[in-house]
Amino acid sequence: MGDITAKQCQIFTDSLKIWFSKNQRPLPWKGQKDPYLIWLSEIILQQTRVEQGLPYYNKFITAYPTVHDLAAAPDDEVMKMWEGLGYYSRARNLLATARFISKELKGVFPRTYKEVRALKGVGDYTAAAIVSFAYSLPHAVLDGNVYRVLSRYFGIHTPIDTTGGKKEFTELASRVLDKKIPEQHNQAIMDFGATHCKPKKPLCNSCLLKSSCHAFQQGEVNLLPIKSKKMKRKTRHFIYFCVKDPHHIYIRRREGKDIWKHLYEYPMLEVAEGTEISQNILQNSELWQQLFEGQTPVLENISPPYKQTLSHQTIIAKFVNVFISRELEAKKWGLLKIEPKKMENFAFPKIISCFLNDKTLYLRLD
Ligand code: ADE
Repeated sequence: MGDITAKQCQIFTDSLKIWFSKNQRPLPWKGQKDPYLIWLSEIILQQTRVEQGLPYYNKFITAYPTVHDLAAAPDDEVMKMWEGLGYYSRARNLLATARFISKELKGVFPRTYKEVRALKGVGDYTAAAIVSFAYSLPHAVLDGNVYRVLSRYFGIHTPIDTTGGKKEFTELASRVLDKKIPEQHNQAIMDFGATHCKPKKPLCNSCLLKSSCHAFQQGEVNLLPIKSKKMKRKTRHFIYFCVKDPHHIYIRRREGKDIWKHLYEYPMLEVAEGTEISQNILQNSELWQQLFEGQTPVLENISPPYKQTLSHQTIIAKFVNVFISRELEAKKWGLLKIEPKKMENFAFPKIISCFLNDKTLYLRLD
């Protein structure tokens, strides 16, 4: 990066500022100085597009206008409000941090980069966004948008998913930061990356920066940024047992340390790829034998496959409706016995909500 001059950095910064003055998106958190609201918006916007995050932000600030309101909310209520946004560790950390600030810090949001960075759920990017927006501190944001903009404009071929890449881009992001107005600069580079210098079909022809953009001049727009690893997604196959007695449905809270922790689900059987789902397979499973010991359940029908693509895996799920005449010993199997109309109070992974909202009639299993 030694060969990028101060003058090139200045031209980039100035051009970006001009672009921003003409292309601001009016968003409710812009110009906001309350660190609580900024933090909330930034957690919601992690790995999330603005259009998707916006209604959630509005719901949250209405329900919880202060950090004390959020801290006092029950876990399940917050998980329900987060439902559909994904990456649920964000919701768990949000609540833990709100409680920490409300109790331990008496509601006073930390003021330095180091203290903000130390909050649960806050990484380098979010800390820089918060302290620049709330306190005008000169910390540059670096996320996927920024990597893309900088690698294209300055023609950097170092893979962004390496330690060296991270260091190089961090230094460059800091060099181009407009230290007099870090909050505007950070917002500008995020918006420019998200709406103009997009991953696919960037708007190069109408771009103010094209005459000095390395990638545009060299025909490398679709090549940059470079990643060293191609991620392989694993596919997993789940069968959910929707067990119903005459008055109840049985669900359980996920406690394992994964992205769905603290969401709810039906008892589930994971099967190997290509497993033909038959009555036999289901009835011989350990799950079936345990749950229905001494009963003769009726296996009513099976749903078509539902699919959800997550960052590291693809889930394919089928749902089987099983009717029983006697209640299950719910506690013994870590299950919750609930009335059907109460289902709407619980937060489920998207693949289960899709099934619940689907009115299709399913096939009988013969
Ligand atoms: N993504 C993360 N933070 C953002 C912000 N403040 N504005 C737009 N997109 C964002």
